[in-house]
Amino acid sequence: MKYDLKLLTVDEKIQLLMGKNTWQTKDIDGKMPSVFLSDGPSGLRRVAIRLDEDGKPIGNYTMPATAMPAASSLSYTWSPELARLDGEVIADECIEKNADVLLAPGVNIKRTPLCGRNFEYFSEDPLVAGKLAKAFIEGVQSRNVGTSLKHFFVNNAENDRSYKSTEVDERTLREIYLPAFERALEAKPWTVMCSYNPINGVWASENNKILRKLLREELGFEGLIVSDWGAVHDMPRAVKAGVDLTMPYRELYLNELREAYARGEVTEAEIDECCERVLRLIELCESKDKEVKMSRNERHGAAKRIADEAIVLLKNDNNTLPLKGGKIYVEGGFAKKPPIGGGGSSLVTCDYSFVPLGELVANNLGDCCELVSANGRYTTTVDSKGARALPNIIAAALRADTVVLAVGNDSLCESESFDRTTMRLDKRQEDAIIALSRAAKKLVVVLYTGTAIDMSAWIDKVSAVVLAGYAGEAVNEAVADVLTGKVCPSGKITETYPLSENDVPVLAVDTTRPYEVYSDGVLVGYRHYDYYDKEVLFPFGHGLSYTSFEYSNLKIDKQGESDYMVSFDVTNTGEVDGKEVCQIYVSDLLSMVIRPVRELRAFEKVMLRSGETKRISISLSYRDFAYYSTAHDSWHVENGEFEILIGASSRDIRLSKRIDIQLPREKQHTLPQ
Ligand code: BGC
Repeated sequence: MKYDLKLLTVDEKIQLLMGKNTWQTKDIDGKMPSVFLSDGPSGLRRVAIRLDEDGKPIGNYTMPATAMPAASSLSYTWSPELARLDGEVIADECIEKNADVLLAPGVNIKRTPLCGRNFEYFSEDPLVAGKLAKAFIEGVQSRNVGTSLKHFFVNNAENDRSYKSTEVDERTLREIYLPAFERALEAKPWTVMCSYNPINGVWASENNKILRKLLREELGFEGLIVSDWGAVHDMPRAVKAGVDLTMPYRELYLNELREAYARGEVTEAEIDECCERVLRLIELCESKDKEVKMSRNERHGAAKRIADEAIVLLKNDNNTLPLKGGKIYVEGGFAKKPPIGGGGSSLVTCDYSFVPLGELVANNLGDCCELVSANGRYTTTVDSKGARALPNIIAAALRADTVVLAVGNDSLCESESFDRTTMRLDKRQEDAIIALSRAAKKLVVVLYTGTAIDMSAWIDKVSAVVLAGYAGEAVNEAVADVLTGKVCPSGKITETYPLSENDVPVLAVDTTRPYEVYSDGVLVGYRHYDYYDKEVLFPFGHGLSYTSFEYSNLKIDKQGESDYMVSFDVTNTGEVDGKEVCQIYVSDLLSMVIRPVRELRAFEKVMLRSGETKRISISLSYRDFAYYSTAHDSWHVENGEFEILIGASSRDIRLSKRIDIQLPREKQHTLPQ
C-alpha cells in the first residue's frame, strides 16, 4: 500500500475512521488526499461551497448536472446495457466535478408502494434490481469512480427509518432482500453503505451478524463499509461491527472512540482493520486514469436513449396512440417542466432548458397537427397540486381531437425521510382527469411518478396511459417520441399496479410500534398477488408496444443435474420495429414449504425488426429452482415437477413446459408419502 499504516499514530488512525466534514474523509494534515463522497443515483448532486466576492465561504450549493432517470425508471428499461451507460454518464460528471465516490445505487426492495424512496429503488423483484444495479456499478467504476451500494440492509420504508427495527426471518431475508445486493456485489463496488434502521433489534451500523458475518465473511465483500449519514449511534460498536467510515463528522463520537480505545474496549488491531480499508479507498480514488469522455450534449443524448426505453405504455385502447395528428391539446404543468425525480439526497439540480411537451409533439407530427391552447397560451394549470382553472381547460379540451394531460407526483410528495400517505394522485388531479375525460374525445394521461399509483378513480375513463416515470431531463422528449410513434415503446413496469390500494398487502408501515414485522414473508409484490390469485390493474412486467410479438418453439435441454438450457423464438409480427422484454419465470409445482406461484429467474430484452425472429437462450441452474431452507441453512431444491414459463409479463405467459428434477437421495430429505 502506498500509505503506510505504521506511519500513523493511533489517534491519526482513529481520525481516519470519520469524515472531516459532511462529504470528505480526513487528510491527516495533508499526509494523504481526502476522498470526496457525493450523491447520487440519478445524476450527480455534488455539494460545493459558495464564496463571496472576497473568496469567503457563504454557504453551500449543489452543482448543476445532467438529470438521469431515477432507478425506478431505469429499471423499466430492463436493460443492463443502458444501466451501464447511465453509470458511465454519472461517472463523467463525478470526474468533471471532483467527486471520487458516488453514493449509489440503492437496491432496496419496494415492499410497500408508499415508501417515500421507491423512486430511488429499482423494483419489487430482486433479480431486476440486482442485474441493473450490477451493470450500473460496472459503468461507474469502469471510469475509476467508486460507488456505494446502499442501503444495507432491509430498509424498505422512510417513516421512522432511523429507529424502527425491521423484524425479518432468515428465509425472507435470503430470498427477497439479499439477492439484489448479492448480485450487485459481483461488480465489486468500492463501498457499501449500511442503513439507518435496526435489523432484528440491532442497528445496522452495529449489527455484527449483518455486516461482518453476512456481508464480509459470507458474501466476501472486501471494500469499505460506510455508514449512512448519521446512522452511527455508538462509534466503538460500529467499528467492532465492521463500519470502516462513519459519516459525517461528529466530534463527540470520535472522542467516544478515543475513550473506548484508552479503556481497551476497542483494540488497535480493530482500528487498523478499518483504517486499512480507508487507505485502500484513498488509493483507488487516486487513479490518474480518469478522463471525461462525454460532452454535456452527449450526456443529454445518453439520458434520452435511456428515457426512450424507460417510458411504459400502460394502456392504449383502440390504438389511441401513436397520435396521428389533428387537433391536440396538451395540458399540465409537468408538460412544461417535468419532475425529474423525487425529493431528498438524490435530487439533481438540473440545468437543462425544457421544451414544452406540446411543442415537441407538434414538431414530430408536423403539418398534420394543430396545437389547441387554453386561454390562447400554453398553461400550467394542472400540476402536482391539481387544477386551478378547470373551465378554461375543459373549453380547450372540447375543441381538441385528443387531449394529453400530464399529471403525477413530484419531489414534494415522493421523498426521502417520509412515506406517501396514499397511492392516489392528489384529489384535484383526479378531478381534472375525470373532468377532461368527459370533455375530451380521447384522453391520454401521461403520468410522472416513481412508484405505483392507484388509478381506480379514473382508469376506466381514459383512452391511454403513458408512464413517463421520473425518466430524467430527457423525459418529455422521450414521451413526445412515444406519443407520436417516433419511438416504439418498450418499457415494462417492475412493480405491480394493484386495482386499488385496498389490495396492497403492506400499504404503510406501522408507526405505532418501534418495529416493523415482515409478516408478508417471501410474498412481496407480484408474489403476493399471484399467491392469493388477486386481479391486478397492471401486472409486474407489463408494458405495451406499437408492434406485436409472438413466442414459439420452446425447448428445454437438460445439461446437468439441475442445469437447463431454455431456448425459444420471438418474432415481431407487427408493422413496426420494436424491442421486447422476454421474461422467464419458474414455478415449483409441489413444495413442502410455502413458495411463490412463480418467480422471475431471467429476462432478456431483444430488438426485432418488423417480421424478424430471434432465438433466445437462457440457462437456469440450481439456485433458480431452490428456496432457502432454514432447516438446512442453505439453498435447497426439492425433487419433483417444475414449470418453466416464458412471458411478456408475469401474467401474460406465452409458453410453458414442465421438467422433473430428480436429485440423488443424499441431496434430499425424506418427504411425506
Ligand atoms: C441517505 C443516503 C445518502 C446520504 C448522503 C442519507 O440521508 O439515506 O442515501 O447517500 O444521506 O446524502
